[in-house]
Amino acid sequence: MRTSCLQIVWLMTILFAAMPVLAQEPGRDIYMKRCFWCHGEQGRGDGPSAVGMIPSPRDLVAADYKIRSTPYGQLPTDEDLFRVISLSLPGTPMPGWEQILTEEERRRLVSYVKSLSPRFKTEKPESLPVPSGSGSVERGKEIFRTARCFVCHGDSGRGDGEVATALSFEWGLPHLARDFTRGWTFKGGHEPRDIYLRITGGLNGTPMGPYQDLLSDQERWDLAHYVSSLDREPKETSEDFVVVAARIEGEIPDAPDAPEWQAARPIVIPLAGQVVLDPPLRWWMPTAGSVTVGALWNGRSIGFLLEWNDPTGPANPYPDSALLQFAARDGSRPYFLFEDSDDPVKLWQWHTGNGAEEWTATGSGKIEPHPAGFQVNSFWKEGRWHVIFRGSLGSEPTFETGKFVAILLSVRDGANAEFGRVRAISTWLYTTLERPRSLRPWLSALAWLLGAVVVELWILREAEIARRP
Ligand code: HEC
Ligand code: HEC
Repeated sequence: MRTSCLQIVWLMTILFAAMPVLAQEPGRDIYMKRCFWCHGEQGRGDGPSAVGMIPSPRDLVAADYKIRSTPYGQLPTDEDLFRVISLSLPGTPMPGWEQILTEEERRRLVSYVKSLSPRFKTEKPESLPVPSGSGSVERGKEIFRTARCFVCHGDSGRGDGEVATALSFEWGLPHLARDFTRGWTFKGGHEPRDIYLRITGGLNGTPMGPYQDLLSDQERWDLAHYVSSLDREPKETSEDFVVVAARIEGEIPDAPDAPEWQAARPIVIPLAGQVVLDPPLRWWMPTAGSVTVGALWNGRSIGFLLEWNDPTGPANPYPDSALLQFAARDGSRPYFLFEDSDDPVKLWQWHTGNGAEEWTATGSGKIEPHPAGFQVNSFWKEGRWHVIFRGSLGSEPTFETGKFVAILLSVRDGANAEFGRVRAISTWLYTTLERPRSLRPWLSALAWLLGAVVVELWILREAEIARRP
């Protein structure tokens, strides 16, 4: 009798302890492990890592979802949520979980995310019908103009429309229209069908409204094909780490569209936010994901052309800038950004207003300015900066053929509050001078050929003499 009483007490205690686990919404355990850090305990988008994050994590209670197959203002479907959770929101801190969580776990998260908002109990989202359709890029281009998409997305589609800066200031933080040339940054995918759905239903809670009632179905398909056709920039990864300066005879051109720069075979270098020194509080996303760099030399001077996308251009509260950092000592590769007390670096910086500055640095506290020994020319056109640096070969570091000089690139977008150490930077790369084209290899090949012909003729003549009776 006593034992069974004790057993019941034990059973009740265990049940009591297990109550919170049994009562908890399915998926909460995974949510608290994986999502809480950004989206917060109640799903309000206020997790411990969310401070200053741009864009801020979604408030899952308010449930204003961007990527939906449903009309503007509606909730997403389960499949919409499953897609975003699996595949991420590219270009933002929201990760994709396809490789980390099983399909079953991701489905449980969909249910949990829905349970956070009372809206899902009353509203029933329904996918828009997507009639199969093809589109014409040419007609889409015309509609892009008549429907005034360019006001935000820019004539070239780089997100540099005339209200680009206004959008970012009015919303307090960058709220830029998408850059269509970088298809991999589309949050809901860059296939024409995905784009058709975004144009039709808009992105809730953003300046990107719905065009369902403003444009016909065919017009939206045409637009989707046009937008998709603008996707031409490769994703920013590169195997190239050597910037080879091409040899030219004349002066290094000061205009970025000069044919010499094209012939220099520029390479695309990925950039990342500088988070090593004084890591800023917020999750920081630089505007420039890459910089294209080409170099030329002519026996006296060396020139670098840096080009990168910046939709807002010169009209910023802080200046835009670009920096070239060279290892000053032969064969060295100093620690990162002017932060090495034993290994000095030389810095060339340009900022808006054509400011050219030159320093040597051994550690960030020991920066010594010099009169700028280089010239700079800058141009901003259709959402892209083109900046040319030209300096003498002989000044420190000295450039010689056969030598590799370590070089690091960095740019800042003032409109994205990038100043001081908040900047986009590359890793260390190398630059070297292409050898002048010499005639010697050709001449020696010709000499060998002539020699061979002479020897063959001699053999033939000897053979002829031998055959004579
Ligand atoms: C590192 C921070 C971070 C983590 C971790 C994170 N998210 Fe997000 N999430 C974000 C940000 C930032 C956004 C908003 C991006 C935007 O507005 O474009 C977002 C948006 C979302 C959206 C909105 C999609 C839409 O269409 O608007 C959903 C749903 C979501 N997250 C679910 C999750 C789930 C579920 C997890 C855990 C498995 C998770 N997130 C983990 C940062 C995070
Ligand atoms: C008032 C400014 C504005 C106008 C006008 C505008 N857009 Fe947008 N668009 C935006 C903004 C801002 C975003 C990014 C929203 C975000 O991700 O938070 C965007 C995003 C997009 C996306 C990206 C979807 C994704 O998956 O990332 C597409 C496609 C798009 N717009 C197409 C168009 C087309 C086509 C037109 C003309 C019919 C148009 N937009 C008109 C501001 C605008």
